[in-house]
Amino acid sequence: MKNLLQLLLITLVFTFCSKKSTEPDPKPVNKWPFDPPSSVPLDAFEMNRKIWRGFNMGNALEAPEEGEWGIVVEDEYLETIADAGFTSLRLPVTWPAHCETEPPYTIDKEFFARVDHIVQEALKNNLVVLLNNHHFDQLNDDPVTNGIWLEKLWEQISEHYKDYPDELYFEILNEPHGKFTALIWNELLAKVLTMIRKTNPYRMVVIGPVSWNSPDYLPTLELPENDRGIIATFHFYNPFQFTHQGASWAGDDANDWLGTQWIGSIAEREDITRVMDKAVEWSKLTNRPLYLGEFGAYSTADDNSRYRWTDFVARSAEKRDISWTYWEFGAGFGAYDREKGEWRDYLLFALMPK
Ligand code: BGC
Repeated sequence: MKNLLQLLLITLVFTFCSKKSTEPDPKPVNKWPFDPPSSVPLDAFEMNRKIWRGFNMGNALEAPEEGEWGIVVEDEYLETIADAGFTSLRLPVTWPAHCETEPPYTIDKEFFARVDHIVQEALKNNLVVLLNNHHFDQLNDDPVTNGIWLEKLWEQISEHYKDYPDELYFEILNEPHGKFTALIWNELLAKVLTMIRKTNPYRMVVIGPVSWNSPDYLPTLELPENDRGIIATFHFYNPFQFTHQGASWAGDDANDWLGTQWIGSIAEREDITRVMDKAVEWSKLTNRPLYLGEFGAYSTADDNSRYRWTDFVARSAEKRDISWTYWEFGAGFGAYDREKGEWRDYLLFALMPK
């Protein structure tokens, strides 16, 4: 009897333990409020439409330190942008200022956390976020030697954000210029893309051509044919003498351009639509969606001209299914007056007509 009881007890303990060990671990408390990234390919044209109308959060995280160029990103800015009906935020980031300058080019943890915060706040406001790699002087000066630096940055960035929702897009490099030739850029972008795809198979990746993302250079872009998760981008600041009048970084002549107006004559309009139509031709030929990542006129231009130009460029893009992000939210081109805490109405209306 005693033996029988012992056997029963052993059996019970065994059954209990073995049952327990095959039970799944309790579900971890999920604090992440976003959907996981897609496990199937996405339609790049549809994803491009989600960008629709948005802002560059310029002069903030692409300054050597946030705040050095006057703007620190406040959470409320993201709400303000979303409340006004905008649907996207391009976040220019100068990663090379926040990592080791030698292999393995480790990115500073605190800086990552700051970028995370802004990205998450933007996503919470239902903004598509375009995270880029902005001023990378070392790369533009020597793209062959420093190409590996870009690859290593993207290895870390893509690993870090791999579980973020589809509404986070990556942009490999802002405005390749300097020593970049189309050949060097095409080789490097393919390598970086391969790196990104290891961890982010279906994330949208934005890529623009050399010569500062000039639309004229779109035909020099060679994008991996079988990768359809790509959105092509270009920037538009024509006529430069108008949009960059008095801008300190635009060369010695920039002060001579002060007073240049944009009245919207037929010839002025055609100068813009001609460029866009050519870009669209390329887009149709290559079956790649188009995104105007930057356009804007500096605050030194007169308000009426700025209104007319901004409205015309934005509408011309929209008519052609080109999504856009205005350069930029709250600094020298700013549509938002941070001191007063209000929109500059004429720019807001140009961007988001009632
Ligand atoms: C640059 C900014 C500049 C803007 C207009 C951007 O790509 O990063 O520094 O203000 O273009 O020139």
